[in-house]
Amino acid sequence: MDSQKTSSRRIAVIPGDGIGKEVIPQALKVIRASGANVEISEFDWGADRYLRDGTTVPPDGFATLARDFDAILAGAFGDPRVSTNIHAKEILLGMRFKMDLYANVRPVRLLDAALCPLKGIEPKDVDFVVIRENTEGVYTDAGGVFKHGTPDEIAIQEDINTRKGVERIIRYAFEYCAHHTKLDGSPRRRLLMCDKSNAMTHAGGLWQRVFKEVGAEFPQIEKQHMYVDALCLQMVRDPRPFDVVVTNNMFGDIITDLAAGLQGGLGMAASGNIHPGKASMFEPVHGSAPPIAGKNIANPFGAILTSAMMLAHLGLAKEAEKIEAAVLEAVRQKKTTQDIGGTFGTQEAGEWIANFAGRL
Ligand code: NAD
Ligand code: IPM
Ligand code: MN
Repeated sequence: MDSQKTSSRRIAVIPGDGIGKEVIPQALKVIRASGANVEISEFDWGADRYLRDGTTVPPDGFATLARDFDAILAGAFGDPRVSTNIHAKEILLGMRFKMDLYANVRPVRLLDAALCPLKGIEPKDVDFVVIRENTEGVYTDAGGVFKHGTPDEIAIQEDINTRKGVERIIRYAFEYCAHHTKLDGSPRRRLLMCDKSNAMTHAGGLWQRVFKEVGAEFPQIEKQHMYVDALCLQMVRDPRPFDVVVTNNMFGDIITDLAAGLQGGLGMAASGNIHPGKASMFEPVHGSAPPIAGKNIANPFGAILTSAMMLAHLGLAKEAEKIEAAVLEAVRQKKTTQDIGGTFGTQEAGEWIANFAGRL
């Protein structure tokens, strides 16, 4: 235990494209200021490298990440110069799929009432977690285009839902609910499964049956269900009832952008792509935001909170808490970027957090 506590954690860092290259350096600054014992190795995977030499992921790339690192911190991938988005697909979805990081954990927390667009909603009202299936669904690229470009063209995008895949994410979500508390220390009690089983009956049927079966092993957890459309309405009408939500890959993608809106926007949302026991990957929920890239205006807090999530996952709870406390204080004092009401640039906001965290 002691040796684990003192040994340094090996982190692979892939800033990627656009604002990923601006927010990740701030996250690294803050990690260092927190006193976390980490060894950082940076990787240049992204659009620039792809445009330079055609490499998306080097041949042994994923094996190296899995073998030589405890965790991966990634920025964002997507660049208007790469219209196919092939590099993003191979790097980002490659990590999720090939490293089998099946649980995409996306906490939704409101740090200050001023950041929420809903009337009368306070931080205690928004503290839930979306657990998104991360290795199958419509993201597997199964399907194809036939009679391309003709009036008879057929485009098929398969929705893959395996018994094993559905069961492991639902089980992960129940375990998560059973073992995690809310920010105020109270236990999590409810798991809501979100699907579209009224229209997508084959996949939805499997999710429904598995939710019921696995749920029987967790009698203490209240089970709920909502169709994804109704859930979107509920999220903006009153987010207070949400606790833990489990859903498929695409619905999880969509509802976590909506949920980011409750937190103050995409610049505030953190996430982890997790396979217990394997090197997991942490990234802010936002993308590369090309229109604001290179201007020192992107909000680094999503990336910084993501780094705290990564440190907590690696057993560095104290350092993670310092970082979260510093972000909370920055939000309270409006030491933030413009998107959430402050006047700081990306670097100044990162610097402020690093200084504050360094004094804790
Ligand atoms: P986006 O998340 O990049 O931007 C959506 C909106 O949110 C924009 O208005 C942007 O300015 C704003 N925004 C995002 N992050 C912000 C931040 N940190 N601070 C302030 N404002 C922020 O999504 P998009 O515009 O749909 O996609 C742009 C590119 O990013 C595309 O290539 C897309 O495929 C890619 N993308 C990548 C990831 C990822 O790598 N994880 C995630 C989402 C999108
Ligand atoms: C996300 C992103 C990705 C996704 C894109 C870039 C493929 O939107 O991480 O939320 O859809 O998973
Ligand atoms: Mn998304």
